[in-house]
Amino acid sequence: MDGNGRWATARSLPRAAGHRQGAQAVRRTVTAACRLGVSTLTLYAFSSDNWKRPGAEVSALMMLFRRYLVQEIEQCRREGIRLSVIGRRDRLPADLIPLIESAEQSTSAGNRLHLRLAVDYSSRDAILAAAEKARTREEMGALLGPDVDLLIRTAGEQRLSDYLLWECAYAEFHFTGQLWPDFNQASLEAAIGDFQNRVRRFGAVIHPKPAA
Ligand code: FPP
Repeated sequence: MDGNGRWATARSLPRAAGHRQGAQAVRRTVTAACRLGVSTLTLYAFSSDNWKRPGAEVSALMMLFRRYLVQEIEQCRREGIRLSVIGRRDRLPADLIPLIESAEQSTSAGNRLHLRLAVDYSSRDAILAAAEKARTREEMGALLGPDVDLLIRTAGEQRLSDYLLWECAYAEFHFTGQLWPDFNQASLEAAIGDFQNRVRRFGAVIHPKPAA
């Protein structure tokens, strides 16, 4: 969800204002994903490297997660959205933990959309932890999460930044210059449209169908 900072700077606002606007884009995108029949949506909300940011910015982000967990959960539950938080929990503010646990528990029956928020998340760390337990690709997959079909990166960034490295083995990438706070249903539709035009071979050869 890149571009919150740039969105704010372009308006001479503090970066936290960009993150607040980014949280609105999260709400819009979750609604759009439900409408468009997306089964799993994972949002990179805070990477383990984001602890390097100024304390005030980190606190503003933690406040937005807190608010999201309090304000959106009832609607998630009603709309069949199952919420999970992936990443480390031991470094998060202590009061966030019961909020996360309660949100996960109260939405656990949701089967319309699985919304995963990556918070204090590092894919390298997740792979290291899973590799201690798993012996096969299937076991790794079960511990880490589903393979990614489509990865969307906003604000012109074109790198993985320690995100879902294993799960993206055969992901299709969609890059857009749009800043995350401006992301909306049309942006998601454009990304999905782009994805639908890709030919996915998974390393195999696809023979064209003979003309009828
Ligand atoms: C990266 O772009 C964005 C983040 C590190 C934070 C993402 C957080 C939100 C969208 C808001 C809260 C989320 C939830 C789930 C309620 P950047 O802000 O570093 O942008 P820049 O590259 O323009 O500086």
